[in-house]
Amino acid sequence: MSQQIGIASDHGGKVLKDKITRFLKEQNLQVDDLGVPLDSSASVDYPDYASQLSKLVSEGKLKRGILVCGSGVGMSIAANKFPGVRAALVTDEFTAKMCRLHNDANILCLGERVINHDRALDFVKLWLTTEFEGGRHQNRLDQITVIEKVLAQGTAQK
Ligand code: RB5
Repeated sequence: MSQQIGIASDHGGKVLKDKITRFLKEQNLQVDDLGVPLDSSASVDYPDYASQLSKLVSEGKLKRGILVCGSGVGMSIAANKFPGVRAALVTDEFTAKMCRLHNDANILCLGERVINHDRALDFVKLWLTTEFEGGRHQNRLDQITVIEKVLAQGTAQK
């Protein structure tokens, strides 16, 4: 699995996406930027960008990804439709840490119009450096996997 960190945004998240991308590169981390470009003036649809990145995480081609839109809400809703994706919408340090410790969140969602952009880098740092605790929390993630499988079977039978 690629250790690259995927990142994507719509037009409402491209400024913060650019800041986070530069920050990750400064840390010598490999970043796969899936757009939208900072210099694009287009209004684009967040589900398109959420899907591109979430598909790669769901298929195990990317270990982790970051999605940014205006509020972070649309990206998180779309990302969590993909099996195996655990996308967390983060607005504070506590959640940035807990979504790794307890939820093994593999996608971080941020809202450019909601959070302070310098603080957002702290959220990214916490999310990148906090390890999943496992144990009882793994049991709960296994329960979510069962839900995904049951729902997928239901879809297949229709
Ligand atoms: C775009 O205007 C905005 O709706 C989008 O960035 C996001 O906030 C949706 O959840």
